Order: sequence, then C-alpha cells, then structure tokens
Amino acid sequence: MSWFFNEKTDFVNVNILDNFYQTSSFYPMPVVICSSVSESGLTNLGSYSLCFPFGISKDHYMMLISRSTSNTAANIRKNKTIALNFIPYDKAYLKNAVELGYPGETTEEKLEESIFTLLPSSRSEDEKKDGLVYPEIIKESVQVFECTWDESDIFKYDGPEIEAHFLLKIDKIIMQERYAEYLKEGEGFPTLPVDFGYRDSKQFWFSKHSHPYAEPIPKAKGVNTDAVRYQVERMEGAIKWHPDAYKKLVKVPRIFLKMIIGKINDAAAEQGIEEVTPEFLDEVNAKRR
Ligand SMILES: Cc1cc2nc3c(=O)[nH]c(=O)nc-3n(C[C@H](O)[C@H](O)[C@H](O)COP(=O)(O)O)c2cc1C
Repeated sequence: MSWFFNEKTDFVNVNILDNFYQTSSFYPMPVVICSSVSESGLTNLGSYSLCFPFGISKDHYMMLISRSTSNTAANIRKNKTIALNFIPYDKAYLKNAVELGYPGETTEEKLEESIFTLLPSSRSEDEKKDGLVYPEIIKESVQVFECTWDESDIFKYDGPEIEAHFLLKIDKIIMQERYAEYLKEGEGFPTLPVDFGYRDSKQFWFSKHSHPYAEPIPKAKGVNTDAVRYQVERMEGAIKWHPDAYKKLVKVPRIFLKMIIGKINDAAAEQGIEEVTPEFLDEVNAKRR
C-alpha cells in the first residue's frame, strides 16, 4: 500500500535520536544563507536552517545553531558580524544552498561555486561600529537581517562542544521593496522555501509553501486589540505604544485607524513623549473635544 493511502493513524513511539529535528520528527524550518567575513576578508556563505527568533519584544534577537567548527562559527567568534540572507524558493538557489552546505570547504572554494550576487552591507557609515567589518549580503534575497553577535550568556548549552549557539542582535532588516509593500499593505507574500530536515544522509528535502490563506481570529475572543497593534507596529518612526493603550482605539473604524494613529504619534513626537500610554490618549482626546 502506498503512503498516500496509509490509514495507520494511531500514535506510535519514536526514539529521540541526536539531531532529533531531522531524525525523529518532521520539522519545517527556514533556509538562510549566512554571510560572514572570513580570515582573508572575503565573504563566506554557509547554509543554515536552525535559525529562529529568540528575543522578540524589547530587544530583537535571532538564535543560530551551528556546528562549532564551521567557517560561519569561526567568523562570528572573530568578527562578531553576520548577515542572514533569506533566499526565495527557486530550485537553482536551493541546489546551490546544498552545495554551500557541505562541511570542510574553504571560503574561496565556496565563492567559486556560489551562484549568488554579493552586494556591500546596507549599513550607512553611522550604522557601522568602529573596528567592525561587515559581510556582504546576497542580492537575490527576499530579506536580509544584518546582525551582530551578543556574547552575553543568556543561553548556555551545557552539552558536548560539537554545537555552538549564537545570540544575534538584529541591527537592521532590509527587504526587496515589492515585499516591503506587501508587508505594509497586509496583502501578498514572497515565496520562501521550507527545509524539512533530511531523513537520510543522501539528500535534503525542500518544499515551497502554498499560497497562504487568511483565517480570521474569532470575535468571541474578547476585545480585539490586534488590529490596533498591527497598525501601530507598521507605522514609521520611533514612538512606542504601551499595550494597554491599544484598547482605547478598538472602536475606531479600520479605515481611519492609520490616520488617527499617525496623528497620535505626531502629537507624542511634538511633546517629546516616547511611549503612548492610555493616559496620554485621554489627554489627546480631552484636547480634541
Ligand atoms: C539547507 C541546509 C540547512 C543547514 N542547516 C544547518 C544548521 O542549521 N546548522 C548547521 O550547523 N549546519 C547546517 N547545515 C550544514 C552547513 O551548511 C554546513 O555545516 C556548512 O559547512 C556550513 O558552512 P560554513 O562552514 O561555511 O559555515 C545546513 C545545510 C543545508 C544544505
């Protein structure tokens, strides 16, 4: 009987082996080409999937898990800088990602086989720190996170030293303009690859995600501040909002939300206020009346 008609739906136990995400489960992951500066000053490219958001609200961090002897690990330890290049789904790119994922090659060898176009880091002179060198980035990427290594021991892996964990502070996110517009408008998606880990030593398995569909959050889940928060997070500028402030705007019709939040942010900026609180909204409201 083929897997397609397999009706064995009862749970069975699976042994937890090393590299459990590949050997003992199906685990969908991103495909990221890490660029870092090598010993000789060239940009090294290495493929990684164990790369996930780690600090998301106050500070913005990614966690990268690497073989501790990889070029990428050595380069992060030495230079503290890295760029995470999210390549789009394209079989030629994924073939090259597998080639760049072969341990033991030098940066020079990798650059020879890479089909990607390298551009200088997008950091302006002001965004660069004295004494640091920054890797080039991949032009074909959907988006790039430009990061620096945070050496604080917020996470310590108390295991054999075959793997290294790097806490990466996201300094900049850049994105091809068309995708940045999708993000702003809340419509449209780039096509990113999914790495399913590999079940044997011969191959990697990738898939393309299908077109996403929308699943609305039920109204019954209480006062829905999501729409307000969503819009606040997409506004330009540095004004932050206290989560309690979102509730004050839940009754504003969606079409006016962006305009009203913009005006509130302008008023806060004029008064030198860094965070919009419920009290500040009450004041703005009182003045408006
Ligand atoms: C799609 C893909 C995902 C990979 N993910 C990881 C990973 O998350 N961590 C890791 O240590 N190695 C991973 N590898 C293997 C590395 O790419 C490999 O160790 C490579 O030598 C790293 O390059 P570097 O030495 O230039 O850093 C992955 C390989 C491929 C093809």
